Amino acid sequence: MQGKYKALWLNENDFLEVIDQTKLPFEYETKILRTTDEVVLAIKDMTVRGAGVIGSVAAFGIYTACMEVNNYDKLKEKAKLIRKSRPTAVNLMWAVDRMMELLKDSNNLIEDAKKYAIELNDDEAKESQKIAKYGADIIEDLLKQKGKKTINILTHCNAGWLAVIDGGTALAPIYEAQRRGIDVHVWVDETRPRNQGASLTAWELTQSGVNHTIIADNTGGHLMQNDMVDMVITGADRVSANGDVANKIGTYLKALAAKDNDVPFYVAIPASTFDFDIIDGMKDIPIELRSEDEVKYMRGIDDDGKVREILITPKNSPAVNYGFDVTPARLITGLITDKGICEVSFDKIKEKFEENN
Ligand code: MRU
Repeated sequence: MQGKYKALWLNENDFLEVIDQTKLPFEYETKILRTTDEVVLAIKDMTVRGAGVIGSVAAFGIYTACMEVNNYDKLKEKAKLIRKSRPTAVNLMWAVDRMMELLKDSNNLIEDAKKYAIELNDDEAKESQKIAKYGADIIEDLLKQKGKKTINILTHCNAGWLAVIDGGTALAPIYEAQRRGIDVHVWVDETRPRNQGASLTAWELTQSGVNHTIIADNTGGHLMQNDMVDMVITGADRVSANGDVANKIGTYLKALAAKDNDVPFYVAIPASTFDFDIIDGMKDIPIELRSEDEVKYMRGIDDDGKVREILITPKNSPAVNYGFDVTPARLITGLITDKGICEVSFDKIKEKFEENN
């Protein structure tokens, strides 16, 4: 499997190749994205997903666009298409804007775009390694403090290496804890409607031999009331200047339950997930509204090994599908960042990330 621990790469012909995440966990397939339209579609239909990987694909998407137009003015039009392929994860806009800024005086668009996209991805991978270290330190401390043999961590959606180059965000500390010999068990929220927890996080953890259990989305509160969760770690798609966190729908309910049960609730993010232009995340972070079919239909595998989509609701009942919710800063214990653990307030974030601001 060429893509193990890599969600995307440049193939031998220098085209962007990605794992098709819509096929997991039943089939491992990759797709080559040769045009801007293919990049845009892959982001929209969630062939690739997860805030960091969307940004990474967008950066290589600009390189792909350069191969098509090789002219900065025409590139601007392509960049616009990529930029608006999904609305909530700010890593997408950040990556496109950064690439366009770096390329504005370039005399060799294709070569430079390739170089900058690789650099951007290398930087993100380094951040992921630091997040792993700082997050694992917290896990280690908590284990000592509680005097337990096993640490139980709940996570929502997928914030592993399928979501952020190369080790993920929320899952990075878990992988690192495992490397340190800590006995970790992960409660994996199934994460309806698209089941990124049940299909992607569970698949990733299986690949790495991390002990885990899939739970229905409504189970977390009960587990927390019964002292079965030591901490929660999630990723994020956008964090405003005051520390409000947009993440997969349902994250807010987990944060409420964690607060009520004194369970530490951490959010792991690279710097590219901050949106300093938005002060009040509760009010101003755009929330993606997706097709009602994602709620009404489920995908699975039958006894003959055939992948099928089936309707699970009355055909004509309407459904609504908000992709994300916003967890207010006051419910979050800390942000796990490449610069260490950051307290969640406007001033503390500003102090730590002044130069990114
Ligand atoms: O709709 P998705 O699958 O792109 O949403 C992914 C999430 O919400 C993840 O938790 C997330 O991107 C955070 S970590 C990159």
